[in-house]
Formats: sequence, C-alpha cells, structure tokens
Amino acid sequence: MSLSKVATNAKASATIALNSKAKALAREGVDVVSFTVGEPDFDTPENIKQAAHRAIQSGFTKYQPAAGMPQLRAALAQKLRTQNGVDYAPEEVFVSNGSKQALYVLMLCLVEEGDEVLLSAPYWVSYAEQARMCGAEPVAIDTMATPDMKLTPALLEAAISDRSKLLVLNSPCNPTGVVLTGDELRALVEVALEHELWVISDEAYEPLVYDGLEHVSPASFGDEARRKVLTVNSFSKTYAMTGWRIGYAAGPAEVIQAAARLQSHMTTGADSIAQKAALEALSGPQDSVAEMRQAFDRRRRLLVEGLNEVPGISCMMPQGAFYALPDCRALLGKSYGGRRVENSVELCEALLEQVQVAVVPGAAFGAEGYVRFHYATSEETIGKALQRLHAFVEGCDD
Ligand SMILES: Cc1ncc(COP(=O)(O)O)c(C=O)c1O
Repeated sequence: MSLSKVATNAKASATIALNSKAKALAREGVDVVSFTVGEPDFDTPENIKQAAHRAIQSGFTKYQPAAGMPQLRAALAQKLRTQNGVDYAPEEVFVSNGSKQALYVLMLCLVEEGDEVLLSAPYWVSYAEQARMCGAEPVAIDTMATPDMKLTPALLEAAISDRSKLLVLNSPCNPTGVVLTGDELRALVEVALEHELWVISDEAYEPLVYDGLEHVSPASFGDEARRKVLTVNSFSKTYAMTGWRIGYAAGPAEVIQAAARLQSHMTTGADSIAQKAALEALSGPQDSVAEMRQAFDRRRRLLVEGLNEVPGISCMMPQGAFYALPDCRALLGKSYGGRRVENSVELCEALLEQVQVAVVPGAAFGAEGYVRFHYATSEETIGKALQRLHAFVEGCDD
C-alpha cells in the first residue's frame, strides 16, 4: 500500500503508545503505576460541568463560527489583556479543538517545505511531528549541557540558518518543567526578531509555576513582539479539562484569520458545549486552579526528592508544569533481571516489565538517557513508584 509522505513519516506519540501498553497490562489485572499521559487527576470543577449541562439543556448544540463563539473570543481577549499584558481584539483570537490543533494550524500558516522550525530540546513531542507534517524540518537546539536546561540567546543564534522560519517557546515546559524568566524570554525574542522569525509561545501550563516565579507572555514585549509572536494556550491543564478539547491562539489578525480559514475546513470549529464550559471556566471562580497548583507543588517535591534518592538517578527540580525529567544515563549499559538496557526506550520497557512503572522515554523529547515522569497523580502513586524504582535498581545484575 502506498501512503502519503506525511502519513508514512508521522511517528505515533510515544506518550500515547506507552499509555496504551500500560492500560493493556492493567486490563490483564497487573498493578501498573502509570506516569505516561500528562493530565490532571482532578475532576473538571463543578461550575464548569454545570455550564455544559445548561448549554445542552438550552439547545446550544449547533455549529459555532469557525474561529470560535464570539463571547468566548471576547472573554479570551480580555483575559490576555488583564492577565498577560497583551492587547488583542476578539478578532485576533481563535478557539481550537485543544491547543494541539491550534499549534498545528498555526504551523500550517507559518511554515512549509524547506523551512526550519527551531525547538529547544528537550521539547514536547508534537512540535517536531507537526513541523514535519507541514513539510518543514524541526531543528532541535540541545540545552542538556546547560546547567538548568534553558535555551540561551547564544545557543539560539548558533542554530539559526537562512532557512529558519519559526521558533517554538514553551514556558513552563513539558517535559523539563523549566520556567523562563521575563528577562530570559525577552533576550530570546530579541534574537528571533532580529532574524525575522515567527515565534509560537506555547503557554499551556501558564498557572503552574512554583517557587514564587511568575509566568510571562513574550507577546507582551512591545509592538514588534506582538507582530511576530503567536500566543497559544489551553483549558486542558489549567481547568482539568483535557477531554473537552478547547485551546486557543492569539496573534496578528492576518495569521488568526488564516488559521480560522484552515480550521473551518478541518473541524468546522470547536465543540459548542465545551466552548460554553470554557467561558464559565474563564469567568467563574478560580479557586480550583490555586488548589490544583498547591497539590502539584507538594507532589513535585515528593517525586523529585524521592527520585534523587534512587541510586543512579539525578533530577533537576522543575519550576513549572507537572513533569520531571530525571537523568537516568547512569542506569544504562547494565542488565536488570537479565535484560540489557542501552537506551531510554529499553529502560522504559524494562521498568514496565519488571516493576510495572510506566514512564516515557526521553528519546521522544529529544532527551536520550532521560525519562519523563509527571506528578499529576496521587502522593500514594508517587510513593509506590519510588519504592519500585529502588527495587528495580537493586535488581541490577552488573
Ligand atoms: C506543552 C504542551 N502543549 C500543548 C499540549 C496540548 O494540549 P491540549 O491539546 O489538550 O490543549 C500539551 C499536552 O500535553 C502540552 O504538553
């Protein structure tokens, strides 16, 4: 069978693949502790669910404009103005089926065959695949040799070529948990603007910053930044709404209109009921956001301090999102329970088989030798996983 180049080249999401494997084992009755797909274990807050009920009962069940429900676009523009310091008109915002779709549609608007998309590695899996799906080439800028895994202006400058078209920023970052400060982001955006690059700022984990740090939106750095930076955000993580599939993007009207045109042919637009729920999420009480952040903060310390006690594992303390990316290179090149482990994929397979801990190989994020945990799970699950990791390492045959 001959499939298109795009379909042939697209790799399945490693996160979703491991999650399926872990779920299959769980269905067989195996007690798997899973840290694969990153989604809050909290339920969607009640006021949001009630808004969806009301939308159904009142018959708000029809197609909405491709760029989103006008009231929601207006509320998002207001949120961006008051919380992020960027003045957008509602026409400069579009609502998508999850932020993943906003990212893809924006890439389709901004890059094509022959272009390069610059990513700070470790990066979230879908950026590289989406760039390829647009015919462009992802260029991973390795930050693993820096002490805090942060992209620097010098590293960015060195990676730029005459084919570079787009830089993707993601703070707080999945998978590292790195949060870039306002000054750090400003310095990167300055380099991007000097080279006339587009910038996508993926802010899906906006409220999840710890240690007194602040989230900063690069589009707020002045008129030039506002012309070249596209801000992408999501309801998934902030409001525990992963299944509702609502995200959004804001930027210059020309790009947003083009994105809406593409979206109109892809999905017609986002779900009407979920858009009503998203409007309530934005305008209703925000207590649940703070409660979730506090819980994630506690779990972050428990997980990362625990990981650092496991011989051979060393983990930087993440400052945002809900992921930890421990360095497991010292565990490689050894055998565990008779199974030789040479890389992060084999390590994850061995962890799942031998101690039933499901984690994602760093290779999927451009971080060979590392594995990704999330801490959007209970303290009990984290404790259980840490015990099992100790048992795994003790089972080393070498
Ligand atoms: C960095 C980042 N951006 C975007 C997304 C997509 O989220 P959604 O499509 O649910 O809005 C994710 C999901 O894991 C993510 O980690």
